[in-house]
Amino acid sequence: MRLEDRVAVITGGAGGIGLATARLFLKEGAAGIHLVDLKEEALEAAAEELADERVAWTAADVSMDADVARYTQEALDRFGRINVLFLNAGVEGVVKPMTEYPEETYDQVMGVNVKGVWLGMKHGFPALEKAGGGSVIITSSVAGLQGTPNVSAYTTSKHATIGLMRSGALEGAPLGIRVNSIHPSPVDNRMMRSLEEGFAPGAAEEAKKGFEGMIPLGRYGTNEEMADLALFLASDESRFITGAVIPIDGGLTA
Ligand SMILES: NC(=O)c1ccc[n+]([C@@H]2O[C@H](COP(=O)([O-])OP(=O)(O)OC[C@H]3O[C@@H](n4cnc5c(N)ncnc54)[C@H](O)[C@@H]3O)[C@@H](O)[C@H]2O)c1
Repeated sequence: MRLEDRVAVITGGAGGIGLATARLFLKEGAAGIHLVDLKEEALEAAAEELADERVAWTAADVSMDADVARYTQEALDRFGRINVLFLNAGVEGVVKPMTEYPEETYDQVMGVNVKGVWLGMKHGFPALEKAGGGSVIITSSVAGLQGTPNVSAYTTSKHATIGLMRSGALEGAPLGIRVNSIHPSPVDNRMMRSLEEGFAPGAAEEAKKGFEGMIPLGRYGTNEEMADLALFLASDESRFITGAVIPIDGGLTA
């Protein structure tokens, strides 16, 4: 029961990592889980799967100020407080050289992956402060630590969240708010299927083998392994950790 009495907001809550984290947080005694994602149907399905009265949700676009204000308020209305903010919603964009990369996709990737995190802290900090402090966890990527050709917007966005995380950690410390970022290598879920197909159209399995070959532990991570790290950062076990860049990558960046 490492999260007893805690209320957590999870963005990208209907996706692979977000939903696995919601499941684990509930198991660890969370008092409330507020899922945020784009589509009502996906959120409904996620809530149905979790089948727990401690789950609520808001359909919102994390890149829009009014939507972020709304999901924050709805979580407060439903549960009375927010202790943990898992800013995890993200999009991969497309796989194309910079010279061919569509401007619209660049703006979308930066809007969700960067502005979405900034807005999450902007609206979430007052709630966490009121709760006496809390933990913000940002899902970046190994793409925030090193370059990869042909995913320039994604790579840029995941580097940028480190700046946001460090700013948040310094501004949050006097308020008792810790802010850290996690940096997964490929995780075995929808996003990697999309990227494998983007890197090697029609030969996704080959692309997967190539990526696995770059990871010293020889495999992709799982949604559940990402959830385990989010749990540690959400719980008091990590109480002296803030401002940290934490790879969870099977040794990829070693
Ligand atoms: N899958 C991987 O290999 C991998 C590796 C490193 C980092 N990440 C990061 O992990 C995070 C979670 O992704 P995932 O792997 O669970 O993939 P996913 O696609 O299953 O989940 C992402 C979720 O974010 C939601 N989302 C997208 N745009 C949104 C918006 N504007 N507003 C609200 N929600 C929005 C999607 O609907 C989806 O449910 C992302 O930030 C991703 O970049 C993933």
